[in-house]
Amino acid sequence: MLSSVYAPKDFKRLRVSGDLVARCFDYITPHIRAGISTGEIDRMVAEFLHANGARSSDLGYMGYPKHICTSVNDVIVHGIPNDNEILKDGDIVNVDLTAEYHGFHGDASRMFMIGNVSPRARELVQTCQDALNAAISICAPGVPLSEIGKTIEAVVKPHGFSISRDFVGHGIGKVMHDDPQIYHFYDKMWDKVKMVPGLVFTIEPMINTGSPKCKIDADGWTARTVDGGLSAQWEHTLGITEDGVIIFTEKMV
Ligand code: MF3
Ligand code: CO
Ligand code: CO
Repeated sequence: MLSSVYAPKDFKRLRVSGDLVARCFDYITPHIRAGISTGEIDRMVAEFLHANGARSSDLGYMGYPKHICTSVNDVIVHGIPNDNEILKDGDIVNVDLTAEYHGFHGDASRMFMIGNVSPRARELVQTCQDALNAAISICAPGVPLSEIGKTIEAVVKPHGFSISRDFVGHGIGKVMHDDPQIYHFYDKMWDKVKMVPGLVFTIEPMINTGSPKCKIDADGWTARTVDGGLSAQWEHTLGITEDGVIIFTEKMV
């Protein structure tokens, strides 16, 4: 059932992979401004990973053509970086970066706000980050996986945003996508599955200003809101410890 359960020595490796992902974000962050293309962001990530002896987990995954996903405005997930897609004032963009280093994967995504962003878009981005952090804070051995979705709903609903149900978090470690699935909304099915020390997974809520529903572009990847509403996502890779949770995709100090 839970295949993504790892030993303490693997946690050390996962911590190093996650640190690399966080440092890659720091490397690209100053460049994510109006006028840059999402294709250029992809190239910067490719260069950073190469220079550090790592590789993109996305490239070639089920035929995926780029190193990262860049999801702008109404794109929920899996936007494909493109030299003709230039970021402009008022855009919100998610950069989702998964890297493999010495056999272990780290997966994280962050939102970037370009210039003057509308108050509602700002609220969306902040609420999504708050939901992720709240969900992380309840993670510990013995806690049902359903508490994650319950916690996210409690943060998101008062703002009137919807939660995407078409994409889930996932076990991760020696492979990018593994069991269990992590739902970002409450489902009693996950009451029965409890977190155990060694469990490694992502939480990656996607929340929308309008409809939770998505449609897929002709490219077979890009998932957008059906109504053109804005969408935000934040993601971390986490590990359950003996007494709580560790965030792997944060910089080591
Ligand atoms: N990083 C994504 C996730 O959070 C997976 C990317 S799918 C790919 O699970 F096709 F782009 F690789
Ligand atoms: Co990801
Ligand atoms: Co993920």
